[in-house]
Amino acid sequence: MQGIAACIFDLDGVIVDTAVYHFKAWKRLANELGFSFTEAQNEKLKGISRVQSLELILGWGGMEKSPAEQHELATRKNDWYVDMVHHMTPDEILPGAKELLESLRAAGIKTALGSASKNAGVILEKVGILPLFDVVIDGNMVSASKPDPEVFLKGAEALGVSPASCIVFEDAIAGVQAAKAGGMKVVGIGEKKVLHEADLVVENLQEIDIRILTNLYNAK
Ligand code: BG6
Ligand code: MG
Repeated sequence: MQGIAACIFDLDGVIVDTAVYHFKAWKRLANELGFSFTEAQNEKLKGISRVQSLELILGWGGMEKSPAEQHELATRKNDWYVDMVHHMTPDEILPGAKELLESLRAAGIKTALGSASKNAGVILEKVGILPLFDVVIDGNMVSASKPDPEVFLKGAEALGVSPASCIVFEDAIAGVQAAKAGGMKVVGIGEKKVLHEADLVVENLQEIDIRILTNLYNAK
């Protein structure tokens, strides 16, 4: 059996913790519209596209908006979000992420980003980790959102490897489902009870090394 050819990483919640910035921006928008927005609601937006997030939030607030108004609201939120991510620094890379990317590349395993975010490029640049990815597939390059596997399949294709030879790292239920739908092994980052569909769940990437990945890959 061939070894692992590539690892594909989600961005938000796996490489960096941007959920806090998404929360601040969505909360500001909800408050301007006259309703509240909680951290529990923010959790439900993990892995979900900007447009779908807005639809959910407007639903929670009991509001209906025209497509043009929705576009304006999503842009308003994104402008605040982009202002915040422009101040991100390398300190905000999550524990173990940089070390794992470096060790994979040293072992000849390819790396890709597979993110729903349309802001992935600027975030990777701000935290100084862009050179550690062979390929970046982000929200600008896909038409179907997770749990559809498109983002991960495009990553494998761009790397020139088969989906079955990839391992995906994900913190969102929709992302774990996307990886499984793509025929890939998946490591969940977070809680076992939430990410029970993943092949392995860890708290953070510090717990992962190539030996653990090889065992996971070779397991049935
Ligand atoms: C995902 C986040 O990575 O990107 C979601 O988990 C977010 O919360 C989505 O909505 C889209 O991000 P952006 O940067 O394009 O608004
Ligand atoms: Mg995520």
